[in-house]
Amino acid sequence: MSEFVRDQWYVAAYGSEVGRELLARTILGEPIVLYRTGDGTAVALADRCVHRRFPLSESKLVDDTIVCGYHGFTYGTDGACVAVPGQKRIPRTARVPSYPVVEQDSFVWVWIGDAGKAATTPVPRAPWLADPGYATVCGMEPLNARASLLVDNLMDLSHETYLHGGYIGTPEVAETPITTEVDDEAGVVYVSRHMDDTECPPFYAESTGLAGRITRWQDIEFHPPCLYLLHSRVAPVGVLPNADGTDPDAFHVEVVYAITPSTENSTYDFWAVARDFAQDDAEVSDYLRESNRTVVLQDVDALNVLEKVIADEPAGYQELSINIDTGGLAARRILARMARAGDPTKVGS
Ligand code: FES
Ligand SMILES: [Fe+2]
Repeated sequence: MSEFVRDQWYVAAYGSEVGRELLARTILGEPIVLYRTGDGTAVALADRCVHRRFPLSESKLVDDTIVCGYHGFTYGTDGACVAVPGQKRIPRTARVPSYPVVEQDSFVWVWIGDAGKAATTPVPRAPWLADPGYATVCGMEPLNARASLLVDNLMDLSHETYLHGGYIGTPEVAETPITTEVDDEAGVVYVSRHMDDTECPPFYAESTGLAGRITRWQDIEFHPPCLYLLHSRVAPVGVLPNADGTDPDAFHVEVVYAITPSTENSTYDFWAVARDFAQDDAEVSDYLRESNRTVVLQDVDALNVLEKVIADEPAGYQELSINIDTGGLAARRILARMARAGDPTKVGS
């Protein structure tokens, strides 16, 4: 049974990845080819030629059209065939689906599902990634595991202590209780962990220059199905925001994950780290890029192992959940509801 949530915007790529080369991505099981027209507009088409299903991503971009690499069917930006070999008449059905595309916050978002609903569904926001007040490092790691495992992983950061010790984990992360709030109407899950007096992990010590103990806040917002925001605040111990909300003596890091299911058992793990300090310091950028990529790969390794375990186990395995799982369980509930809503065969099930 599919866990996919359709009728949603998903991140297909960073804008910087889409250009005059054809880029293949599989999103919710749908093969898609992405490219940019001469005037810079991003285009997303189904990546299968309507003739004999040759991948258009293995074909050739000629001006703004794709010429199929097998027999030359030629497609315009709307997916309609504008030329076929050996005859003047182009069959009426000679077209591939085109996907609604929006570029926002450094991402190329594509709509998966009923295209008629795209215009009325807002594209999720991660404004820091394209804000000149922030410096951003980012990447994407392919994950050989189902998307729900990554959601679980991100909703419970107590694993930082064990999986990411020496990078972002310290003992206090796992020791400090969380608070969880669920806005069922808006479909958002909030998980917060505020550490008043804690060790500063290398990730923050190296990037901020803070020495000694810190106040460290982690405020998560998960917008199912695919956008995860971690508002991270670190400051010298005891330094709190002002009553008016300004917070000049703290360091703020906005960690963004876009979780894009590729197949039932693989996922694109887009990650970005935006900071409001040392914006022009290339060394800090290099450090955070390498460090965060290492942390993401530690998760990727663990989740790839879990996917194998799940694939090999008999049905009916019972997990044991505790307080730290409250946010993850709420996310699962909302995702299951959304999957049912987007799949007419599952309504009411
Ligand atoms: S498969 Fe594309 S033209 Fe034949
Ligand atoms: Fe992690």
